[in-house]
Amino acid sequence: MRYIGNKRKLVPFIRRGIEELGITGTTACDPFAGTASVARFLKGHGYAVTTSDIMSFSYALQWAYVVVDRTPEFRGLSEVVDRAEDQLATTVRYLNELEPRAEFIYEHFCPEGHAGSEHERRYFTPENAAKIDAVRRKIWEWCDDGRLNDDEHYVLLAALIEAADRVANTTGVYAAYVKSWQPNAEKPLRLRPPRLVTGTGHRCRAHQRDALNLIQELEPFDLLYLDPPYNTRQYAGYYHIPEIIAEGWFAESPKLRGKTGLPEDQNKRSDWSRRRSCEQAFADLVNAAPCRHILMSYNSEGIISEGCIESVLRQRGIADTYRRLEQPYKRYRSDRDSKTRRYKGDRVTELLYYVGVA
Ligand SMILES: C[S@@+](CC[C@H](N)C(=O)[O-])C[C@H]1O[C@@H](n2cnc3c(N)ncnc32)[C@H](O)[C@@H]1O
Repeated sequence: MRYIGNKRKLVPFIRRGIEELGITGTTACDPFAGTASVARFLKGHGYAVTTSDIMSFSYALQWAYVVVDRTPEFRGLSEVVDRAEDQLATTVRYLNELEPRAEFIYEHFCPEGHAGSEHERRYFTPENAAKIDAVRRKIWEWCDDGRLNDDEHYVLLAALIEAADRVANTTGVYAAYVKSWQPNAEKPLRLRPPRLVTGTGHRCRAHQRDALNLIQELEPFDLLYLDPPYNTRQYAGYYHIPEIIAEGWFAESPKLRGKTGLPEDQNKRSDWSRRRSCEQAFADLVNAAPCRHILMSYNSEGIISEGCIESVLRQRGIADTYRRLEQPYKRYRSDRDSKTRRYKGDRVTELLYYVGVA
């Protein structure tokens, strides 16, 4: 999924860091899990991982890629699943073949919709919006009828969230849509079976909680991997559409406002994306974590100063184990330079900070 801070391409750097720094252990926590790309890697690398994030769509991805340890069998869907075939692939194919059905996403996020708004919100083509609606409703109906267990539910939801993102008419974030249709948006919505990590035997857990609240309640574990927001852009405002798809509109329809259709009661603002509170949030989290190793991804333009990171980590851990590894990286650009934001170039340095804790 296109996501600010997605570490998918940086997993080799993180793996090298873990090896070079001599980090060992069997339990890890990733409390800013996002797309779950690092937690997924840690699970495959031998850790039982606890994950969290404040976003609902992240919870679905965490569950699918980290908690699920056996490929779902969809036993409650006997009329859909061909037992002789790969059952996940068959279920995904069934969802891909559903008739479009115009509902919430169609009404609010494609130009033909316009429910209660003068804005055309060109996020999805009408066909794709109605396909997203049809698939989301079917997943909800199956769940409501008790025909899916949690693993099956989140695997299908993850497949839909990722498929919708591939055809979203954006440059990567949902804070704006593009005025003309982009080539990716004109392709038909196709769900793909998520590439699960199965058979590890690790007991992993997913949460949708504030990082500090979660950390304060955890039993001691080996590795704390931190990947907090780098800048003042609030994720809740940039990814509201995956959030709506994850949460659904079946119990209560969210009330939307403005050009981009942000939910009115959106309240997921993070201290980590505010200049005045991020350094305190960082110190509180590091000091509360009951772990043996702390590894943090950050980048050279982050709002927590390098001096703060170094002094908090040195004080919390064994000072002379402190390290800083770096790797040049192509910048994630979701928008162009503007009056309020000037990028300093196309490259940014990705950093890994480490301290061992007694
Ligand atoms: C840099 S991204 C993490 C990216 C992730 N490692 C990946 O590879 O996709 C930061 C994440 O922190 C989450 N976040 C922000 N404030 C949070 C908080 N107080 N507690 C937990 N998660 C938070 C955001 O929703 C976002 O997903």
